[in-house]
Amino acid sequence: MAYGWLVPLEPATSVGELPPVKSSPPDRSAPSLDEARAAAAGGAGKRAYVREMFGEIAPSYDLLNHLLSANIDRGWRRKAIAELDWPRRPEGRYVDLCAGTLDVAVQLAATTGFRGQVIAADFAEPMLRAGDRKRQGQPISPVVADALDLPLADNSAAGAIVAFGVRNLADLDAGLREVHRVLEPGARFVILELSRPRSAVVRGGYQLYFQHLLPFVGRLVSGHRSAYSYLPDSVAHFPTGDALAARLRDAGFATVRWRPLTFGIAAIHTAIKSA
Ligand SMILES: C[S@@+](CC[C@H](N)C(=O)[O-])C[C@H]1O[C@@H](n2cnc3c(N)ncnc32)[C@H](O)[C@@H]1O
Repeated sequence: MAYGWLVPLEPATSVGELPPVKSSPPDRSAPSLDEARAAAAGGAGKRAYVREMFGEIAPSYDLLNHLLSANIDRGWRRKAIAELDWPRRPEGRYVDLCAGTLDVAVQLAATTGFRGQVIAADFAEPMLRAGDRKRQGQPISPVVADALDLPLADNSAAGAIVAFGVRNLADLDAGLREVHRVLEPGARFVILELSRPRSAVVRGGYQLYFQHLLPFVGRLVSGHRSAYSYLPDSVAHFPTGDALAARLRDAGFATVRWRPLTFGIAAIHTAIKSA
């Protein structure tokens, strides 16, 4: 695989020019809805499905993301970045996990007063490439890496953040432990993830949208057979609220809190590694 454009982590330098991701018609052998369902439920093929699927939808990811969330996702990311408490270490090295097309990394690096570096790690190279033009000289280092095996030393990151990523991990607990390993003592890990609204009224309307309209529009625009059916299925299988908080504690985090966003459609979990 040609990852020549990626920077080594030490020392951090800027990345050179990248060819943009080209739109291509979906592969005829693209995974079936059954494969997507099995992946969403955490089956053995989840890692391969997720990596391949994001590689395929990379060219239309940003458009669909903002369209299908009516741009609410931008405000959610801002709130999650605020939870990172980066002013505690403005010159530190921060990890944007499952960085995708770099929206979190770019927003963090562009914040006034931020003087650190963002390691933007994702295992789907086309996603990083699709977001590369957004970096515009900012101190962001895209790295093709699996969140379950980060190329970072123990206790080396001033903070970590993941937006809409942990739900896709083939082994959630291993991923949480891996983040705990690389964080400095006292550092924060912020998770922004989709959730399930608690109010029955909100849930009813939202399910209609999420289970039916979203997969339809997603399939139409991306041309991908299963990606936007995998999305609601994976949210349905993901531990939310207190259950995710408990998993973070089990992974070693000392302090964990969480709050719902927008009627509980999403949530932010903030976990702190013991000082
Ligand atoms: C829904 S996208 C989120 C992208 C971005 N964080 C955002 O806010 O839009 C999920 C991303 O997680 C990545 N991902 C999923 N599992 C991963 C893993 N085990 N290691 C690294 N990246 C992973 C996918 O490749 C994809 O780019």
